[in-house]
Parts: sequence; C-alpha cells; structure tokens
Amino acid sequence: MKNIDSVRHVRGESIFIDDIKIPQNTLFAYVFYSSIANGKILEIDFSEALKSKGVKGIFSAKDIPGENQIGGIISDENLFAENEVHFIGHPIAIIVAEKYLQAKEASKKIHIVYEKQKPILDPREAAKNDSFIIPPRVFQLGNTDETWQNCDYIFEGKVDSGGQEHIYLETQGAVVIPFEDDLLKVYSATQNPTAVQRTIARILALPMNKVEVNVQRLGGGFGGKEDQATAWACMTALAAYKLKTPVKLILNRQDDIRITGKRHPYSSDYKIGLNKEGKILAYEVTFYQNAGAAADLSPAILDRTLFHCTNSYFIPNVKATGLSCKTNLVPFTAFRGFGGPQGMFVIESAIHHAANEMNIPVTEIQKKNLLNENDEFSYGQKTKNCFTIKSYKLSEEKFDLKKLQEEVDEFNIKNFLVKKGLAVMPITFGISFTTTFLNQASALIHIYTDGSINVSTAAVEMGQGVNAKMKRIAAKILSVDESRINVDSTNTSRVVNTSPTAASKGTDLNGFAVIDACNILLERLKKVAAEELGEDDWRNITFKNEKVFDENEPTTLTFVDVIKKAYFNRISLTAQAFHSTPNIYFDTKTNKGNPFSYHVYGTAIIQVTLDCLRGTYETDFVKVVHDFGESFHRQIDIGQVEGAIVQGIGWMSSEELIWNEDGKLLTDALSTYKVPDIHAIPKEINIEPLPYDKEKLLNDEFKDQIGPLNSKAIGEPPFMYGIGFYFALLNAIKSFNPKLKLKYNSPLTPEKVLMMLYENNF
Ligand code: MTE
Ligand code: HPA
Ligand code: MOS
Repeated sequence: MKNIDSVRHVRGESIFIDDIKIPQNTLFAYVFYSSIANGKILEIDFSEALKSKGVKGIFSAKDIPGENQIGGIISDENLFAENEVHFIGHPIAIIVAEKYLQAKEASKKIHIVYEKQKPILDPREAAKNDSFIIPPRVFQLGNTDETWQNCDYIFEGKVDSGGQEHIYLETQGAVVIPFEDDLLKVYSATQNPTAVQRTIARILALPMNKVEVNVQRLGGGFGGKEDQATAWACMTALAAYKLKTPVKLILNRQDDIRITGKRHPYSSDYKIGLNKEGKILAYEVTFYQNAGAAADLSPAILDRTLFHCTNSYFIPNVKATGLSCKTNLVPFTAFRGFGGPQGMFVIESAIHHAANEMNIPVTEIQKKNLLNENDEFSYGQKTKNCFTIKSYKLSEEKFDLKKLQEEVDEFNIKNFLVKKGLAVMPITFGISFTTTFLNQASALIHIYTDGSINVSTAAVEMGQGVNAKMKRIAAKILSVDESRINVDSTNTSRVVNTSPTAASKGTDLNGFAVIDACNILLERLKKVAAEELGEDDWRNITFKNEKVFDENEPTTLTFVDVIKKAYFNRISLTAQAFHSTPNIYFDTKTNKGNPFSYHVYGTAIIQVTLDCLRGTYETDFVKVVHDFGESFHRQIDIGQVEGAIVQGIGWMSSEELIWNEDGKLLTDALSTYKVPDIHAIPKEINIEPLPYDKEKLLNDEFKDQIGPLNSKAIGEPPFMYGIGFYFALLNAIKSFNPKLKLKYNSPLTPEKVLMMLYENNF
C-alpha cells in the first residue's frame, strides 16, 4: 500500500480529532440547535440546564466577545442564532460539561419558545419571493435570441438534481486548548485552517496570531469541511476561552447529517436548439440553486455551475443564468465538483432529450459538438491543449463502443424482465480556484543535521493522498529516499494565510511550492558540495539517489555529508517558497476571463443492468479514458478516480435527501440515506490513461497548462463520470417501458425506477 496513511488507518493508529490524547481536565461540548425551520425565539432559559449534572457552562450569542459572524464570502451567517432561527439545525448554544452525555442530557432541559413562520424549502418558490443570496449571475456567448429562428429543432425541459450528504467517515469536530496570554491551540478537522483561525479571531476579538490551528489529517472532507468545519471550531474556542479549560466537541453522526451543509439541490430549466445534423446552435439554461439559509460558498459554487454548463461541448450561443435562492434549509456547501456536476447534468439531459425526440443516438449529438482546440467557453476562455475529442474517440476505440451497444441491444431483445442500458459521459473540468486570489500556496522545508527532512505546506491531508504526493515531489527534486521525509501537519504557525485544500488544487499549488523550496535548498547544497570538491562552478554539481556527482562523475560525498558540511559552514537548511498560479484572471463584472490554468478531460462508458420486476440495478462496468497528465503516483490517482466514480454514482442513484414540509430532514441516518455499499460499486472499473503529448509541454505556449512534474489535478473531475450512470439507467428503463415520458430528476432510487418502469405501461 503506497499511500503513507494506509497501514496506520487499517491498524487504527492514525490520529483523528477524537483520538488526540486530551488533557485530563478537558470538558465536552454538545450543540443545542433549532428544532424549527423558520421563526423567532420568544423565550429562552438555560437555568434548569445549567443546574444539570456536570454542566460547567452554556454559551450563546450574548457571550461572544467579538462579532457573532462566521460568513466567509458574505457576512450573513451568525455563529449562534440571536432572535431568529432560519433552519432546523441552526445552532443556538453550546453546552459544556464534564462528560459528553451530561452535556447532551442538559440540552433537553433548555426551555425555549418559538414563534413559528412558514418555511420556504423550494428554490423556485424562494425565487418567486425574491429571496436570493446574491443578484442573478449571467454568462453569455453569442446571441441566443437571434439564433432560435435558425434552429430546426428546439426542445425545452426541466431538470432536478438532489443534494448529497458527504458522509466523511470522521464527523465534524475540534479540540481547543487555551495557553497563556489568550493563546489558543486549535485542533480542527478542517480543509481550511486559515478560515478557522480567522473566524475564531473574529468571534473572540483576538488578533490572528493568538490562534494556532493544527490539522493532522481528516477522515474525509469532500468539500464538507472547506467552509463548514469553522463553526464547530469557533464554538469550541469560545467555550475554551471563556472557561480557560480545554474543550472538545465532536458531532455525533446523526447531528452531523442534520445540521451540516451538503451538496446543493438544483432545479433548472433548459432550452436547446439544434440543426438537422445535430449541431447545437443555441442553449439557454436557468439554474435555481437551493442555497439554504445563508451564503456559505454558494456564490462560488453557482459560478462553477455556470462555468461548466456546456460541459465538453462548443455551443456558439449560450445564455446561462444562475439564481442562488435563499431557503430555510441548512446552508448548502462545497461537495466534490463544486457545482460543476449540477451544471453538467442539465446539458447532458438536454442532449438526451433532443436525441430521443430526433430519434438519433445521444452519442451522435455528443460527438458533433465536442470541444475543439481554440473553442470559446461562455466565460471567454479558449480551449488550449484540448483533449475532449481525443478522449472521446479513444474510449470509443479502446472499449469498442459500437460492439458494447450492439450487445446491449441484443440483450434487451432477448430479455424481457432484465434490461441493460449504456451511456457515454465526457467531461471537461476547469482547474483553478475560480476565485483567482485563492490560487496561492507555500511550503516550508527543514533539513535536520541527521539528513532527515520535514515538509510543511498549506495542503490538508483528507485521504486524497496529498501528503504522499508532497513526499514524492520533495524526494524527486532532492533526489533522496522517501523514507527521509516527514510531511508534517498543516499548521497556521508554520505555513500562513493558506487557501483551503480544495478545487482539486492541493497537489498543484503546494506541489509547485515544494519544488521551489527544494530547489532553493538544492542550490545551497550544491554550492557547499562545490566548495568541498574544489569545483569552481556549483552548476556542475548534481545530486542523484543521495550521492553527489561532479560533471556527472560520482564523488565520495553523500547527501548527508553535504548536510553536515552545510551546518558547520553556517548555511541555512531551511527554505520557504511561495507559489501563485500565473496567467489567470476573471472579471466578475463582465463574467469573462481566463479563470482556469488548464482543463482535465476524459470520457466514461457506463453500463447498468436493471431488474424490471423490482426496480433494482447494478453497474456492470465503468470504462474510462482519463487525462492524468503524467501521473507520478499512479496508485493514488487510480484510487481517486475509482472513489470519485462511486461517489458520483451514489449521487445519481441511491443517495436521496428528503425533507418534510416543516423542513425537517427525514433521511438523517445511514439506514435511510443510502450511500453506495460494496454491492453497489461497479463490477468492473477500467481506467485507461490518456496518452499525453510531452513534447507539446516543452513548448512555451503550453508550459503553464499542467501541474507539478507534469501531473494534472485528479480530485474532483472523475466524480462527473458518475453522471453517465443516470443516462445508462434511464436508457434501460426506457427499453422496458417505451411509453415512459423521459424525466430528468436525480437520484434514480429503486422506488422511483419501479414507478417509471410501469408508468403508462399496463
Ligand atoms: N479523496 C478522499 N479520499 N477524501 C476526500 O475528502 N476530497 C475531494 C478529492 N478527493 C477527498 C478526496 C475533493 S472535494 C477535493 S477538492 C480534492 O480531493 C482535494 O484534494 P486535492 O486538491 O489535493 O486533490
Ligand atoms: N473550488 C473549490 N472551492 C472554491 C472555489 C472553487 O472553484 N472557489 C472558491 N472556493
Ligand atoms: Mo473540493 S468540493 O473543492 O473541497
């Protein structure tokens, strides 16, 4: 197992927040939250709860010494509700006791009286009431209004996609230990240590240098801890600060599902115009994003929906409108793909709709419209080094798509109660934070006198293997054995002003910073070696596998010898480097620019088998041609693709969030919210790397179109292959029930599939 955490994880030795050896006097916290979705707090009385066994304190809005505000992009979210509550789960107070169960028990003794108001749960209803997080966002290319008249076909429809709960294995939590002079040491399971630091400082009216945030690793984040780890750390810090005692808060699984944000549900309208040949001439789409009760990351997520609203296709006339609708549900947040999947699902639905009406294969429309080199996206960026067509063609050839389709057709003729369905899902995913300033990172590298090396970066390890990658990069550049290198925790006192580990940019941004820091050290070491060897030009020195070479001739010096010499010569063995992505910008007034440093491409073919008596299904295979660039850690990259595909299929199939009309989440346990299990994963996942053109990268024009060591970002793009599952299954349903009126409404749970199989079909 090559991921450095694997063995520790399997043995249960990895340290997560709940495993930290806490001081003996540590107190435990429980969050008291609103049980209604919308209304006023008329009365609240903590006196009985305060008398409850073991209770040491209860803190609410009035106890906050600084600002009661945790909003990142927009300051619209309080840490604790003041007079109004806006969703079920809206935190009201934190109870601190000697034991966790005592704190939980005390929460039941809080006396609270609400005045209930009717909640708005549906984004379209919110839009009707002008309840928006931000003004509408419109991305536009060409002119759709003038194009409809040139279209031979025009189709319109509605698409819904459900939310998605992250189900990271480690629930949200934090431990805060107060030290002298107001200093707080914070252990938080966050993708965004600096946001936690900044927000705690804001809540407590402290300067940021009084808050140190340390992150060893997360038991999964998937976007759920980009913004939403902050609140729990702030509450814990408030209690620790007030009581001058260590405090620990871990959400139990059910509370975590109930009161933390998820992927945004969307409802969308599309209008697509094509000519007889299947060329898409115009596309209009309006996205109703269900943002929940506060902004959180919704505006940035909505942007990414717009960026990816035409997925892998060039459409000359596009008008995409994004509405971020404020409702009385938990504030929705980042989740792998960051709004991209919601945008891509709509265009794929529109194409599926058109193909079915025009009676031609979906693949024919897909292929006629794939992005070419130098094609323009609706946001003004042009494709460069574009592999959309290449990946599509290669997947067709490598996996013999024609034969696969014939086999499915034949199977469906021969079988009545079992049907198969096939779909092709191309992806073109933009890499960079679309919020340009976030595209920065730094690395701090220390070499100790025994030759051991400590690497710190802004990157947070959350299972995606970024630490293994940082280790490999440092080992490659310094040409030392990986065993010399320790990748340290992410710590705001060592690496400052960090961007979240998100947008699939963790390896790219921090990897480049590690390369730069290593090169700074290498230059110093080469100078030391040159002096030692009597070589006039340090540029003639090279390090290879821990040995020193002079003009490519081996010498007796080793890496460790040079380190010791450097120390005695009083040469610094520490280097810090900063990296920011070149040549990206985006103008949010015109919605034009060059927001992405490059795109990741790929094409998946997905096949499902459907039991038409029960509505249950299996994924037979997912076959992918994926653009890794030059993968320098194949095992991790393959794992990322596999995991993302399964997570994507889960979003499209069994993972269904259901709220009742009061805004209460009914699917708040793993018995009712079904994540893919061992039976639901594809029987076969076949991943072929897209062969890539190294020569081209030597060309100056393309040199910024790639990540460190010529790799490409891997974390999110493969998630969207899972969208193909929806269409594969829909095709299978349609082959059993030709009278089915096609609907684009994910997820396709077995009960929904069963209804569709027999709709108009008796
Ligand atoms: N893989 C694992 N095992 N656990 C995670 O939490 N998060 C995903 C992806 N892969 C995640 C994961 C998300 S949402 C992102 S943005 C990237 O990893 C972040 O890491 P990277 O930028 O280092 O790829
Ligand atoms: N992805 C993830 N997180 C972000 C982004 C993005 O594009 N922009 C701002 N935060
Ligand atoms: Mo990933 S959704 O950008 O954390």
